[in-house]
Amino acid sequence: MQQYIIKGGKRLEGEVKISGYKNAALGIIAASIMTDEIVKIENVPNVRDINVLLKAIEDIGVEIDWVGKNTIKVNASKINTVDVDFDYVRKIRGSYYLVGALLGKYKKAKVALPGGCNIGSRPIDRHVKGFEALGSKVKIERGLICVEADKLSGGNIYFDESSVGATINVMLAACMAEGQVVLENAAKEPHVVDVANFLNSMGANIKGAGTEVIRIEGVKKLHGSEYSIIPDQIEAGTFMFAAAATKGDVLITNVIPKHLEAFTAKLLEIGTEVIEYDDAIRIKANGRLGSAHVKTLVYPGFLTDMQPQMTTLLSVSEGTSIVTESIFENRFKYADELVRMGADIKVVESNTAIITGVEKLTGATVSAPDLRGGAALVIAGLMADGYTIVENVEYIERGYEDFEIKMQELGAAMIKVNSDDEKAIRKFKFKVG
Ligand code: EPZ
Repeated sequence: MQQYIIKGGKRLEGEVKISGYKNAALGIIAASIMTDEIVKIENVPNVRDINVLLKAIEDIGVEIDWVGKNTIKVNASKINTVDVDFDYVRKIRGSYYLVGALLGKYKKAKVALPGGCNIGSRPIDRHVKGFEALGSKVKIERGLICVEADKLSGGNIYFDESSVGATINVMLAACMAEGQVVLENAAKEPHVVDVANFLNSMGANIKGAGTEVIRIEGVKKLHGSEYSIIPDQIEAGTFMFAAAATKGDVLITNVIPKHLEAFTAKLLEIGTEVIEYDDAIRIKANGRLGSAHVKTLVYPGFLTDMQPQMTTLLSVSEGTSIVTESIFENRFKYADELVRMGADIKVVESNTAIITGVEKLTGATVSAPDLRGGAALVIAGLMADGYTIVENVEYIERGYEDFEIKMQELGAAMIKVNSDDEKAIRKFKFKVG
């Protein structure tokens, strides 16, 4: 079992480059199989969830050629089945985008129901509703979502609540429907826009992505394209908060500052200095930070995926903070681990954390409960006195590329080791003192 060992107390300093957005890449890679022509995708984050999705499409006949550390060429002209029923596919959420992509291209798909981080019940009823509105028959049987249509037809689809996944999935299928499809109360998140831009670069006709109404004129065929994925706003936000947590001075490059506004606003509110450039952002912090009230919301509100990192930062801020989670019902599991490190956090009614800032956290052995909760525990380790061991790093590796390497380059005393590699652990402890 691999784990991170962190010796806290080092100020993060220097420059870090952000990778491509995992959650956009999942939609874009799924979309890339909708043409028989070659698609080149740049800025692909080399993380576990992406590698699982790539393996899944390879297993149905797609050829993937890595032509650089973060660039792939996709050739989907030899797909030989629309059944994506592999056990490993159940482990990621983004596999459901293969339903929309295969339904658009072949008018049928059978895909293992998605798993993903255990942060709530995560139903897919809005996806199903959208596929049915396009004229498909949807059945859930034996752990698979089975979708089939004679033809995909146009029409209006109203989502009664916003869903990133459902918006992208239905948009994928709809771009090869007959006639116009209008998605109302669509999700506005940056990755919805990125997937739409990518589909348009393949010849789709999608207008309005990034607003609540997306209009899609169906086309008969999509063609090859070259595209670069947007930077990962969550990875950027994680480094912003890690810099603030360690009273550091970090320049975060390859970002779109507009996508980070909700994090910037909270960092300014609690006393961090934030300097924005065209495609970079610098975070400088000194002294003890202040408290804040935060509620997670859909974009452009405060992103649920940054809630654990925010709570962690507030755990050592002066005063009492309140963090309310309104998107997923089970996203405070990491709080128990923070309490083991000395934080004073009470979670009430499972969606609100009341945080009384303590002077210091102390190192402990903690376990990453999910992807973002795991990243938050790393930030806690960077701030804490002494050594912190973060177990279950495979969760963190689902979404952060070279996480410990990027942290080391900023000066963090942090390594990834096998828990039984006593020699490496001894060597690290000797080195960092
Ligand atoms: C995406 O999940 C992201 N995942 C999540 O990031 C992110 O937290 C979430 O959007 C919100 O921004 C990917 O992009 C792969 P939703 P998704 O559909 O699409 C409910 C990470 O850490 N809902 O917008 O699953 C749902 O339960 C991950 O990178 C239904 O009830 O999110 C939730 O409460 C974790 N029925 C809310 O809507 C549905 O059919 C929002 O979910 C669909 C969703």
